[in-house]
Amino acid sequence: MTRTQVAIVGAGPAGLTLGRLLESAGIESVILEARSRAYCEARIRAGVLEQGTVDLLRDAGVGERIDREGLVHHGISLQFDGERHRIPLSDLTGGRSIVVYGQTEVVKDLIAARLESGLPLLFEAEGVSIHDLEAGRPRIRYRHEGAEHELECDVIAGCDGFHGCCRASIPPGVLREFSREYPYGWLGILAEVAPSIDELVYARHERGFALLSLRSPTLSRYYLQCAPDENLDEWPDDRIWEELQLRTGVAGWTLVEGPIVEKGVTGMRSYVCEPMRHGRLFLAGDAAHIVPPTGAKGLNLALHDVRVLAEALIRFNERGDETLLDAYSTECLRRVWRCEHFSWWMTTMLHLPPGADPFELRLQSAQLRYVTTSPAQARALAENYVGLEAV
Ligand code: APR
Ligand code: PHB
Repeated sequence: MTRTQVAIVGAGPAGLTLGRLLESAGIESVILEARSRAYCEARIRAGVLEQGTVDLLRDAGVGERIDREGLVHHGISLQFDGERHRIPLSDLTGGRSIVVYGQTEVVKDLIAARLESGLPLLFEAEGVSIHDLEAGRPRIRYRHEGAEHELECDVIAGCDGFHGCCRASIPPGVLREFSREYPYGWLGILAEVAPSIDELVYARHERGFALLSLRSPTLSRYYLQCAPDENLDEWPDDRIWEELQLRTGVAGWTLVEGPIVEKGVTGMRSYVCEPMRHGRLFLAGDAAHIVPPTGAKGLNLALHDVRVLAEALIRFNERGDETLLDAYSTECLRRVWRCEHFSWWMTTMLHLPPGADPFELRLQSAQLRYVTTSPAQARALAENYVGLEAV
């Protein structure tokens, strides 16, 4: 049996950043992760950081490589009817911008910082289970390197993603859940070729949505709308490029092809559970909410949660004052629902609806035209995309 102040389940962006923020405040934590370090560092995820997210990572002392290698972008484009329309994000938001830097790289930086500090981060922790949540001293049981362990703590941070064990260990009837499944998936590729675009392009097309993104000056990240259960075997590289060419083509521009080094399909859903807390367990990031990737909000929202949680834990540690812990869920859910709405809105505006419903298609066209001609509408998109300061 060991003791710590905060037991963190999950070494994704949420858990690792929380550990770092607590470390700066002199609060002890143990991070338990089910997967191996190699697995966590290889998982390809999204890649758009809001300015507030970058600031937080810098404050946590892991901003150095982002500042060196991250690509600052001042706009994105929406494409429809064969034309691209730039949304000048910075002009519309008083100079704010986004940084393109892979979540995978964020995770590598955070893991390196944690190991450098010599603080406990246990990979391949098996059979994690949670006990006595309603008592003053919750406990976690797990197996590590063949031995059974028990960890006693003041608080558990459930940062273990959508399929983790933390939310699942809250008794039935406590949480209220809200969700929406979309009849879409994204087929994502990573290609070793210089990106053909300087800024992200979100393209609505009658064959389905496509997104042109990037990871670095030599790595392109492109996506195609597909079925949620799309079979990758039916997508040889040639077919992927052909489809990308069709969906993203505009006059006077060429999509340059290259070797595809990674391919995957992700389903899309919206999900929120309320409250984001039960007794001494606090849920953060994907453990509490999921957004479809169209708004690029998942990681940003996860880091907002842990910022709020860290502040609450610091206050609790300094003065035994639980006011901020009690306010945690309400405080987070305001931003969660703003991002849920924005992500749903972007998703429904850009994806080909089932059966190509003609009414919906006309509504999408009207909305896309409005967003790209009205400065007020464009600003609404821009301020959400770069991340609202106050929600
Ligand atoms: N025990 C220990 N660890 C677990 C368990 C478990 N039972 N179940 C899951 N985990 C680990 C996962 O292996 C993963 O490393 O928890 C971690 C959760 O990390 P993420 O899924 O990355 O979630 P989060 O940190 O909330 O980050 C949110 O990730 O999915 C994207 O779009 C999302 O960008 C957003 C970000
Ligand atoms: C990505 O680069 O992976 C990416 C970018 C924007 C999104 C989603 C994913 O909306």
